Amino acid sequence: AESERSKRIAAARDELGDDVLVLGHNYQRREIVEHADFIGDSYALSQRAAESDADYVVFCGVTFMAESADIITDDDQTVLLPSMEASCPMAGMAEALQVDAAWAEITAAAPDETIIPVTYMNSYADLKAFCADQGGLVCTSSNAHRAFEWAFERGDKVLFLPDKHLGENTAHRLGMADDTAVWDPWDPEGKDADEVADADIVLWEGYCQVHERFRKDHVTQVRDEHPDANVVVHPECRRGVVEAADVVGSTSTITDTVADADAGETWAIGTEIHLANHLARWHPAVEVIPLCGDACMDCNAMRQIDPNYLTWVLDGLREGQERNVIEVAPGEKERAAVALDRMLEI
Ligand code: 13P
Ligand code: SF4
Repeated sequence: AESERSKRIAAARDELGDDVLVLGHNYQRREIVEHADFIGDSYALSQRAAESDADYVVFCGVTFMAESADIITDDDQTVLLPSMEASCPMAGMAEALQVDAAWAEITAAAPDETIIPVTYMNSYADLKAFCADQGGLVCTSSNAHRAFEWAFERGDKVLFLPDKHLGENTAHRLGMADDTAVWDPWDPEGKDADEVADADIVLWEGYCQVHERFRKDHVTQVRDEHPDANVVVHPECRRGVVEAADVVGSTSTITDTVADADAGETWAIGTEIHLANHLARWHPAVEVIPLCGDACMDCNAMRQIDPNYLTWVLDGLREGQERNVIEVAPGEKERAAVALDRMLEI
């Protein structure tokens, strides 16, 4: 059945030709990425979409990525997401309405200061638009430190959303680890105006439930079992994990690190399991081991992109039907684009 489905996807791709671009995020399963024109990290894929002339972009990833692709592609390009259930829980932890309410409290806690909101790419378009309106910008896991510097050139304080771990890791990188406070919108005790007033970096209480599962013990254990192992992790991991690793970076950095490794080296991969599996397959001369075995580091949102849904969306296009279109509302799209453009300036 697997090869039948694969043949069907390949036949649909053949028939549709250059009209359709298929993008696969690094965390997608093998049966998806083998049909993708490009495999990459969240922002690089959107850029690929913008560079292409394809009428349709089928984004095998999660909703916020498809939205970003819609924001930066031309108006006559249509972005499709094979499953509408593929939504990153972390992006959902900072809803624009909720942030808007928190913003009033946070700005009231520091009335004499200029606060610049910085949102991670892993957020919805309405939050990106909000950040643009408040003088802020978007960042990726590769340029968060530069985004913070940009913000501190223009304001006194940064509010970083939604990932507190990426925020904390970035604060460390900038030597500002002692200047942070966490704003927890779900906890009545978690909104301390005095702490906000004192801190230079306010971190929203959001996290990735995949990367948060990595623990420092996993790094210790892998080093015990493989004394020559190098460890590379994503900056959505907890501070202790990042501190114990050799390299930290986006899914592109992780991919490049293993691609550049010498034959015989051992690399333990602290990110979503599918990327670790791809790297093991793509680089057989390198010993690639998932950090924490292959127990639990599977992103449920990414997993929603079942190859049957990819087939369904491609079959729809063959029949002239646009299924699962992701379209950011006009107005919001232009505002979110401002926050993305500011990122490109840094
Ligand atoms: P990248 O932008 O590094 O690809 O990460 C996306 C993501 O969802 C990480 O969990
Ligand atoms: Fe979201 Fe984490 Fe999944 Fe990435 S791995 S899409 S941040 S839940």
